[in-house]
Order: sequence, then structure tokens, then C-alpha cells
Amino acid sequence: MEYLDPAQVDKRKNTSVSEKLEILIGERDIAQKVKEMAAKISSDYAGRHLSIVFISNGAIIFAADLIRSIEIPLRIDSIRTSSYSGEFSTGNVKIMSQVKLDIKDRNILVVDDIIDTGRTIVQVVAHLSSFAPSDIKTCALLDKPSRREVPFVPDYIGFEIPDLFVVGYGLDLDEYYRNLPHIAVIKT
Ligand code: IMP
Ligand code: MG
Repeated sequence: MEYLDPAQVDKRKNTSVSEKLEILIGERDIAQKVKEMAAKISSDYAGRHLSIVFISNGAIIFAADLIRSIEIPLRIDSIRTSSYSGEFSTGNVKIMSQVKLDIKDRNILVVDDIIDTGRTIVQVVAHLSSFAPSDIKTCALLDKPSRREVPFVPDYIGFEIPDLFVVGYGLDLDEYYRNLPHIAVIKT
């Protein structure tokens, strides 16, 4: 792992308090993986309608890059959830906004940044299922399978990572660091 320049980290966080960060997955590796995932999704859904629902805010960067590499017609919407406080999941996932797309009889791909305990994605899939889509699949850039509290296996996954709290590329610590272009680990 490569250390980030602390001045750079301060600038991104725009405060004088900086955690020690190390790059876990670099920009180029992310870009390549996202292209591979998009190619697989494009071929799996070829000839079918695709509606992507990304989980905001965390998945915003990943979803933006992923959809621009998907080469079939698609619609997008987002859904907001809340459960985290600092580094700790409260375990109580709330759906904070509704999808506006009509998803009845559509093929839905739910996109999130990371699957941790599994509670968020399971809750979102259950919520979207109540609108009677014809199919729901799931996609996340990162997966921490060792942290699972509810059984869940995503359909598309970028990288499996160990039990580390990561930030960047959309992932936050108290809403900061989403704008880092790579995935970094906070050293405690
Ligand atoms: P889960 O419900 O425990 O699976 O958590 C999923 C959500 O928690 C993700 O959408 C992220 O927003 C957040 N999350 C989980 N692990 C991390 C992490 O390491 N860094 C930042 N956010 C995380
Ligand atoms: Mg999230």
C-alpha cells in the first residue's frame, strides 16, 4: 500500500485534522475493473430493458463511471438510505427517498459502493421488490464478505477487500473523502 501525501488529504477534506491514509486500490485499477464490469453487464442485458438504481450518496461516483461504460440503453434513478454514524453501522437501515422511475416489470440493477453487513442492500432489494419489477440484480464495487450479518451474495462485484474501513471514490467518513480518486484505508 502506498501512503497518501498528508497535504493532499487535508486539501480534499478541507480541514486541518487529517487521518493517516493509505491507498488500497489505485485509480487505474478501479477504472479497469469498472470497464470490465460494464462490459459484462452490457452483454448480460443485451436486448433487454435495464433500469439502474444506485444507492446515494456512496455509489454516486462508481455509478457515474459504470453507466458511461455500459453500451446498452438504460434508465437511472437513485435511492437514499441511512445507517452509518462515523465508522459504525447502526444496523438500522432506513429508506430515505423513493425511486421515481416506474420499475414495474423492468429489469433492475441495484448499484452500491460497498457491501458490508449486507443490511442496506437486502433492505433496498426488499423495498424495490414491492414495486413488482420483473428481475432485480445487484452490483457493488467493493465487498467485505467477512463482515456479513445477513446472508447476501451480489451478482456483480469489483473487488473483495478485508475488514478495513475504506474511503474515497464515493465512500466517506462522516461525509468527507468521497472525492478521493482512489480507495484508501484509514490507519488508526
Ligand atoms: P451494510 O448495510 O453494512 O452492508 O453497509 C453498506 C453501506 O455502508 C455502504 O453503502 C456504505 O455507504 C457504508 N459502508 C460500509 N463499509 C464502509 C467503509 O468501509 N467505508 C465507507 N462506507 C462504508
Ligand atoms: Mg452507501
